[in-house]
Amino acid sequence: MPEPAIAAVRARRIWDSRGRPTVEAEVLLSDGVLGRGVAPAGASRGSREALDRRDGGTRLDGLDVQLALRSVNEDIAAHLRGCDPFDQSAVDARLIALDGTPNKSRLGGNAIVAVSLAVLDAAAASRRVPLWQYLLGDARLTIPLPEIQIFGGGAHAGRRTDIQDFMVVAPSAKSFAEALEITAEVYLSAGKLMADRGLVQGVADEGGWWPAFSSNHEALDTLMRAIEGAGFRPGQDVGISLDIAASEFGCGGRYSLRLEERELDRDCLAEYLVRLCDRYPILSVEDPFAEDDPEGFRCFTAAVGDRVQVIGDDYLVTNADLVEQAAAARTVNAVLLKVNQAGTISETFAACQAARRAGFGTIVSARSGETEDFAIAHLAVGWDAGQLKVGSFARSERMAKWNEVLRIEEALGAKARFAGWSVLRGGRSALDEASSGGSAARAPHAAAGAASTAKLGPAQHR
Ligand code: PGA
Ligand code: ZN
Repeated sequence: MPEPAIAAVRARRIWDSRGRPTVEAEVLLSDGVLGRGVAPAGASRGSREALDRRDGGTRLDGLDVQLALRSVNEDIAAHLRGCDPFDQSAVDARLIALDGTPNKSRLGGNAIVAVSLAVLDAAAASRRVPLWQYLLGDARLTIPLPEIQIFGGGAHAGRRTDIQDFMVVAPSAKSFAEALEITAEVYLSAGKLMADRGLVQGVADEGGWWPAFSSNHEALDTLMRAIEGAGFRPGQDVGISLDIAASEFGCGGRYSLRLEERELDRDCLAEYLVRLCDRYPILSVEDPFAEDDPEGFRCFTAAVGDRVQVIGDDYLVTNADLVEQAAAARTVNAVLLKVNQAGTISETFAACQAARRAGFGTIVSARSGETEDFAIAHLAVGWDAGQLKVGSFARSERMAKWNEVLRIEEALGAKARFAGWSVLRGGRSALDEASSGGSAARAPHAAAGAASTAKLGPAQHR
């Protein structure tokens, strides 16, 4: 039997979690196997991300994707027919060359990423193995530590709070399943606390409570009480993770905190955030500064990077070159990985490898606009990323991903090793110190996931 080749590629319009149109691609192989991929969509995007192709005009707010569907059905389909689905790098290189622009704006990042994911899905299905296993081969595996949102703010909640994501992590859990159960308790506890005080306004775009707080401190104090109310010790059982998403409220080194009616320069914001890290058991901070402010990132990482994970999202947009620059300039110590920021699986994996070479942590992440598709759960496991961020603990587009990791953990049985503390800066001591408010000597970072040995990329499955 000859190896299967790509026989057909097509796309349809489906609808995302915000009720907006998006692209679903299907790749049919000559062995009859079908693979699928769906483009997610961000709301707080980095300016250097791959650009979606949308129709513009007034219909559906200009967000329809008929032009992106045409990219797939008319352009991409003709160029991928006959290609080897097991050579993901070659497929992605062909998509990149066919587009011909630096930001994928001709065919559309949404068209390209859906096809890239669909090819990968088809290849794994043709080999009759789950996607995570197809990616991983025989390499070592950890089940990722979940970062789960409790309150949504920023661009996901009408800018109700300046900080976009107030999240928890439960690295002391023995398993992914236990980490989810802990989070479920904290989420419920936060909801009750807020309802009692009339502070819940619904749920935000990623399923976290849409809060009516009057300061960022009120949000953090409420989160602390929610953790305690659920029966856990903040700083010992459960830590806090923030996505500041600072590009949304700052540029040119100036930041405007709407909730606190204050305008801060870079140094003041750094001081403000370091104080938050000293006062609360904060283990991870994403995009503490705007994407145009590497100096802000550098100062903050120098101040807290030995005990706090500092993640670049909008700042690095899943781009291997930018990750390498960040490594040279020591501006972060971890990288968020979003497939549609890069635009293809191969480029996302390249950013992952660049992060690993730098000794950085890696977090596979969803977007605020998602669907029931759970491919990223497999990417996080299959690339041994160590961490997974998909939003809150409500709404099925979020739960689909968490639930899929549960299935993977169960399928692995005794072979499943939960990432827990091993992927966090400073390990367990960071949380102990943060909870005691200390800033004495920190343990060296123990980012085991980041330091792990070479991982397999899709192209190696030839
Ligand atoms: P987005 O934001 O998907 O709305 O761009 C998510 C994040 O900032 O992590
Ligand atoms: Zn972010």
